[in-house]
Amino acid sequence: MRQALVSDIHGNIEALNAVMADIAQQSVDELICLGDIVGYGPNPIECLELIMKKAKLTILGNHDQASVFDPSGFNPIAMKAILWTRNELEKGSRRAVDQRWDFINELPKQHQMDKMLFVHGSPNDATNEYVFPEHAYDKTKMDRLFAKVPLYCFQGHTHIAGVFTPDPLFIDLEECDYSFSLSREKLMINIGSVGQPRDEDPRACYTILDHAAKKVFFRRVAYDFEATIAKIYKIPELDNQLGDRLRAGK
Ligand SMILES: [Fe+2]
Repeated sequence: MRQALVSDIHGNIEALNAVMADIAQQSVDELICLGDIVGYGPNPIECLELIMKKAKLTILGNHDQASVFDPSGFNPIAMKAILWTRNELEKGSRRAVDQRWDFINELPKQHQMDKMLFVHGSPNDATNEYVFPEHAYDKTKMDRLFAKVPLYCFQGHTHIAGVFTPDPLFIDLEECDYSFSLSREKLMINIGSVGQPRDEDPRACYTILDHAAKKVFFRRVAYDFEATIAKIYKIPELDNQLGDRLRAGK
């Protein structure tokens, strides 16, 4: 079985459409989403409805949670975007709005399949904890995280794809040449961000988990970020910085 794992779409429909077109060429059986479908970007409804239709499993992200519950812990730019997103999600027929709200409300914070754990943030705090590449130098933190990993943990949230090993070590996409073999060693695998990559590569990022080959493949997909940026510039509640960072990929 081959599963496509997407995360941190953040209302960027141009990036999501480009990723879906790439997935269609990759003999993928299932789509899994690790959260943050909305927030920051100009097309939250389109992204949410596409994921509602296509994903076999979706995990709750902190921005999804903030768009329906009380947001806290966000910087002013993110907060303004969340409040705008919440308002957007209330547009349309009562039925459509209820379906969106029910979908987000019912999302699990984590899911385990065999020895694979799927979260948005970390195995310790499934929704909110960041595991950044530099945390690989913090052995205490990494030991604490790996203690909660059954064998493999798939996560998003930082928008920086790569593999954490228990050494501890972080291996980025260039270092592993965009694929990594799943051995019997515990791993935490960050699948990257579709709609707002932050590793200085502006291309959309997602990951294919190939169960038979026991491998993950990291994919980068070019998309028309200038179209997304132009939309962000036109929406006063979405700070221009949210557009500029798409061009820079950070
Ligand atoms: Fe995110």
